[in-house]
Amino acid sequence: MAYTVDILKELVVTLFFVSYYFIEFWFYTIFPGWKYKKDIRGETVLVTGAGSGVGRLLAIQFARHGAKVVCTDINEKGNNETVAELVTVASNPDKVHGYTCDVSSRKEVYNLAEKIRQDVGSVSILVNNAGVAGSCKYVTECQDDVMEKIMKVNALAHFWTVKAFLPGMLRRNHGHLVTVASSAGLTGGPKVADYCASKFAAIGFHQSVALEIRAMESDVVTTLLCPGHIRTSMFEGFKMRFSLVPSLEPEQAVDLMMNAILKNQEMLNIPKVLNLIIPFMTWFLPAKASLQLSKFLGVFECFDDVKPEVWSKGD
Ligand SMILES: *[C@@H]1O[C@H](CO)[C@@H](O)[C@H](O)[C@H]1NC(C)=O
Repeated sequence: MAYTVDILKELVVTLFFVSYYFIEFWFYTIFPGWKYKKDIRGETVLVTGAGSGVGRLLAIQFARHGAKVVCTDINEKGNNETVAELVTVASNPDKVHGYTCDVSSRKEVYNLAEKIRQDVGSVSILVNNAGVAGSCKYVTECQDDVMEKIMKVNALAHFWTVKAFLPGMLRRNHGHLVTVASSAGLTGGPKVADYCASKFAAIGFHQSVALEIRAMESDVVTTLLCPGHIRTSMFEGFKMRFSLVPSLEPEQAVDLMMNAILKNQEMLNIPKVLNLIIPFMTWFLPAKASLQLSKFLGVFECFDDVKPEVWSKGD
């Protein structure tokens, strides 16, 4: 009897919060400007893949907002350029640090974590951004080692960085895990099987870690970013016959991402229309109808003019 009463009480509380969060979600969707943005001046941010593209722009934003920023990239030259740029926007040049690291190597990530602990201190915001493009070929034509590398950089690397930096955040009961995934982690595409697989994996990992953090009743927060196509060099040449989803300019994408991070938002799909198109194409339309429509829109050929990333020897 007592057990039944307890469960009923818990059910009432649960229903209350479910309704509350539902209303809260729509309130902030309608009045986004009302949502509180956090102050990150005391935070230490680690951005992986900071040497170019979205990673570099995110690092600049974090520096502008006064955080201590640790930039890491496999490309030392690009990373140095980002560091040099950050020094000019940071409130204090001592707040900028750069390290070369191949995040696909578990050993390098753990060594990096140790170095950062000694030189900079504890990381409170981890931005898993480093990523490589897919082969942009039919899976039957993809090279094995390239496919494996894509999984290692875009997905497995997140295991190692999270294992290196999340325990400290949990201990201090303060921190933020940010995953730069992609709408390619929510829906498949032709000629991007390896890339999509890696992004699905990154999303599955992020969402599971987010649940674990809640289960541990920690105050560490998480943000999953799922942008559509961004006009960086990564998928240059991507085009649709009829585009329902416009490509994003890098600065615009990063502004929206930063906004979501500062608001401790759990997830961001950009452009916003993806919130409708993905459920519509994936779950609402029957599979055959979705394929027919995809063919008409030009989905089948959208990666035809994208040049596969050049992979250096030894990768
Ligand atoms: C990057 O910066 C470091 C430290 O200033 C320097 O030692 C290194 O030579 C630079 N590397 C490149 C490729 O510019």
